[in-house]
Amino acid sequence: MKIILNIWRQKNPSSPGRMARYELPAVDEHMSFLEMLDVLNEDLIRNGDDPVAFEHDCREGICGCCGFMINGVPHGPQRSTTVCQLHMRHFHDGEELWLEPFRAKAFPILKDLMVDRSAYDRIVAAGGYISVNTGSAPDGNAIPIEKMCSDLAMDAAACIGCGACVASCPNASASLFVSAKISHLALLPQGQPERDRRALRMVAQMNEEGFGHCTNVGECEAVCPKGVKLENIARMNRDYIVAAFTYREESAAAGGA
Ligand code: SF4
Ligand code: FES
Repeated sequence: MKIILNIWRQKNPSSPGRMARYELPAVDEHMSFLEMLDVLNEDLIRNGDDPVAFEHDCREGICGCCGFMINGVPHGPQRSTTVCQLHMRHFHDGEELWLEPFRAKAFPILKDLMVDRSAYDRIVAAGGYISVNTGSAPDGNAIPIEKMCSDLAMDAAACIGCGACVASCPNASASLFVSAKISHLALLPQGQPERDRRALRMVAQMNEEGFGHCTNVGECEAVCPKGVKLENIARMNRDYIVAAFTYREESAAAGGA
């Protein structure tokens, strides 16, 4: 099948970018989207041109490295699918596609389709962990956890930190990501001792990084390849309000309520 690609090319963070057009006359429908880009890059290298930079690692939907916009949608048109798991059979012969990097102030473009998502790492470093002594790994079922809580914690823990939620949000809010990281610990007994402070610190870091506020648009949930739910944002807001009143001084110092 023939595919026409319009790809955002940008040499480095400070240079201006532009769309470049490429025609691929013989794409195999069984290729993944990234394999199709590999073929394009092999051609570019063979011709002495700069290959298209894009991020990838596992190529099986679990690491969160890959991700860019395909026709204005993070990870492309297939629901609950990372771009590395997207296959060319979902496109038709002769289709023209526009590939752009995720666009958000907090995710500066590094090159072509690659953005710097280290803001996410700094948010997790601000509180997305358990530092109290919870002992060594307990035997299975030694700590009783309600099925509903363990299911919700697992659903939140499915977040792979890809950044699609930010890219789809008109406010470039990181609320779905941050709330997933807060929720998967808040729903388990081991996460309770630091629950309030965790919310306070991670939300403060999210603001510090320049992400916008959530205004309940819901695009994040619609494009999330792992099905992370908006209800996590409600849980984060609840934990944040409790923390802001419990630790007023720390909250005020972080510019909070
Ligand atoms: S919440 Fe979903 S879209 Fe956002 S970073 Fe996690 S997996 Fe990606
Ligand atoms: S490369 Fe790991 S999720 Fe896509």
